[in-house]
Amino acid sequence: QNTIYRAGVSGITPTVPTSAEKLEAAARRALLRRPGGRKAWAYVYGGAGSGVTMSANREALDRRRLVPRVLRSTDQRDLSTQVLGQTLPAPVLVAPIGAAGLVRRDADVHIGRAAAERGLPYILSSQGSSPMEATAAAMKDGPRWFQLYWSRDEQLVDSFISRAEAAGAGALVVTLDTTTLGWRPWDLDLGSLPFTRGVGIAQYTSDPRFAEMVADRVAREAAAGAGTDPDAVKVTPKAVVTLLEMARNHPGAFRRNLTAPETRAAVQTFLDTFSNPALNWDHIATLRDRTRLPVVLKGVLHPEDAQRAFDMGVDAVMVSNHGGRQVDGSIGTLDALVRIREAVGPEPTLLLDSGIRNGTDVVKAMACGADAVTIGRPHIYGLAIAGQRGVGEVLDNLLAEIDLTLSLCGASSWDDVDASLLA
Ligand code: FNR
Repeated sequence: QNTIYRAGVSGITPTVPTSAEKLEAAARRALLRRPGGRKAWAYVYGGAGSGVTMSANREALDRRRLVPRVLRSTDQRDLSTQVLGQTLPAPVLVAPIGAAGLVRRDADVHIGRAAAERGLPYILSSQGSSPMEATAAAMKDGPRWFQLYWSRDEQLVDSFISRAEAAGAGALVVTLDTTTLGWRPWDLDLGSLPFTRGVGIAQYTSDPRFAEMVADRVAREAAAGAGTDPDAVKVTPKAVVTLLEMARNHPGAFRRNLTAPETRAAVQTFLDTFSNPALNWDHIATLRDRTRLPVVLKGVLHPEDAQRAFDMGVDAVMVSNHGGRQVDGSIGTLDALVRIREAVGPEPTLLLDSGIRNGTDVVKAMACGADAVTIGRPHIYGLAIAGQRGVGEVLDNLLAEIDLTLSLCGASSWDDVDASLLA
């Protein structure tokens, strides 16, 4: 904190603006300067519907007011905390962002490295722009979790889970609020859906089970074209893997080859299987036998759903509305967290997601009973402005503001932060 503060008052200008509003504006400017930048900005910034829930997230945070305490000797501070038995340097995780490759090449690797340098867990997206193995390798020992979109193909689910385990994931985060994409005018009006252009499907194109599915589709289509039996058409999974890897390693090739039967089949297979509206509690119940990782459910807003999750042994719930990108008009997440905490009691692990922009937001969330928070758009804004360094500065600024807010509120650690700090 001191380093940033001293730099700030000595005329050294930071790379990324230190206020949330200016950060957003700078990211917008940076993206709009680039070819295709309008679509990238719409995708990252845009919310569902009229943006009511995006505002509700902020409103729930802004409505709450801190009542700082004084004279409490806060010169020695400790921001660290425990989540799922893991020690974090601060109660902050980096949320999964799919198709971040629209913003910058090798996006996931840049974000992963910035998070790893600070010891903050990065939640790798199912819709990552690099295969999880590559991101994990770039992060070295940095903590990472894996976010799963539950595919329509159960073998693909198992394949993702076992790859995540092998890539050193510390938890499995199952996103429940996106069994189908929300109504997103920002993208719809630009005729823009990143995945159809082959962005954000690297976890799939690097997956052996997915390659099998694509091979199968190519064979079926070829057979239908030739009027023969699909089994008679020879398309080996290996040939498809090779082709998909080529497409992955040569960005642009995918788009150019979009008419090649294999790449077209890959995108179609992805669109048909990536998420599963039939998902229900029985699927979640199977997870205990499918993974040794702690299970986190992301996208829970109703107290009864949270209670049911904990009753069936889920390890944590992430209270989230996907940054206001799914059901417009849904409750602001801090309001949802307070209701859920009341229902489940003090013990179960609750993470707060959506709308977090400032250090003060984190302190408020913790005072309301969160165990940690996740941030989404802010780190992507840092990425848009200055790549890995930009992500790092966004995280540093957030940590610094948390630290000084804690101190100025008379708290030395999270033990000192509870509802008594709120008006
Ligand atoms: C997301 N989010 C998301 N969530 C998820 O579980 N898997 C994903 O692939 C994505 N992809 C994604 C892309 C983009 C561009 C955004 C902005 C968000 C949701 C994300 O993890 C998180 O819930 C929100 O971003 C949190 O809200 P804020 O911090 O952006 O307000």
